[in-house]
Amino acid sequence: MENRVKQIEKQALAALGNAENSEQVKALSVKYIGRKGLVTLFLRNISKLPAEQRPEAGKQANIIKKRLETAFQKAIDQFALNQQDNADDFIDVSLPGRPAPMGSLHPITKINRRICDIFSRMGFDIVEGPEVETDYYNFEALNIPKNHPARDMQDTFYVSDNIVLRTHTSPMQVRIMEQYQPPIRIVAPGKVYRCDSDLTHTPMFNQVEGLLVDEHISFGDLKGILEVFVHQIFDEHISLRFRPSFFPFTEPSAEVDILCVMCRGKGCKVCSQTGWLEVLGCGMVHPAVFENAGYDTSKYSGFAFGMGVERIAMLKYGINDIRLYFESDLRFLRQF
Ligand code: FA5
Ligand code: MG
Repeated sequence: MENRVKQIEKQALAALGNAENSEQVKALSVKYIGRKGLVTLFLRNISKLPAEQRPEAGKQANIIKKRLETAFQKAIDQFALNQQDNADDFIDVSLPGRPAPMGSLHPITKINRRICDIFSRMGFDIVEGPEVETDYYNFEALNIPKNHPARDMQDTFYVSDNIVLRTHTSPMQVRIMEQYQPPIRIVAPGKVYRCDSDLTHTPMFNQVEGLLVDEHISFGDLKGILEVFVHQIFDEHISLRFRPSFFPFTEPSAEVDILCVMCRGKGCKVCSQTGWLEVLGCGMVHPAVFENAGYDTSKYSGFAFGMGVERIAMLKYGINDIRLYFESDLRFLRQF
């Protein structure tokens, strides 16, 4: 009789070895150890055995029933585990996450901040003003009356007769002087607009205006500040020159050129074969501008400058076409 139950176990384990999924294992479990299973029936019929065989047969059958129970459960667990492994939507929480793509600052924004940073460390405050500007602040208060030929220096976008898109950040000079008394030391970054487009010009570009007004300010102070600035922004001893120029709102006026970094002064497409690239205009504030702002011209003097941010970024990064900054081409932008 004992052999009989061992045979059942052998059969059950062989069938289990051939089972292909947990459904089949469950069916085997019913067949062998379920309520009407073979091992269960064997146990129920033990009373029909001769008395001396009953204890041993009962013990044996119970052990086998336990063993089968464990084997079936183990097989069911294993199938469940395998199935999880294969499922497409299985999430392994221990895997490192997928990083979200991160944007970065536009190169022009970076240079803009760097410029403001350098001046702010020299004691300049940072101010901002409107991009849609009145004719008065953009031109007239800066000593450029209506019909003055100097209006031709910049191709203006007119919104209406008296409203323009500001062509430079210089209107901020007047706006600040109307609000504050000297000493004044500000830089005003911002977008400006001109009908202009080629390798070194775009219809929208960024300028940073500077204004310093106090007693006894000379052209020497202007030169000193701008030299420190140029050397700080380019991290090297790049050559620069002050070239006499004209602006209606400064007298004397100059433009600052930097040795062309593309050709190192030899002459190329970017510098129009001159070897130099203009980065800013500057000069001593014209007395007429002080008068428009209500400043005492016998007491105060000052200087102003306005620089092209894209131009500085071109030189700093060795970019030969300014338009690349505005095309939003990620292959270009990812290099910064
Ligand atoms: C001015 O705009 C004067 N307001 C600067 C100034 C301020 C002079 C204060 C004196 C006192 P200008 O038009 O030269 O000047 O422009 C200044 C700088 O802006 C140029 O040196 C150049 O670097 C840049 N720039 C001019 N036009 C463009 C353009 N279309 N695209 C990109 N950069 C430009
Ligand atoms: Mg110029």
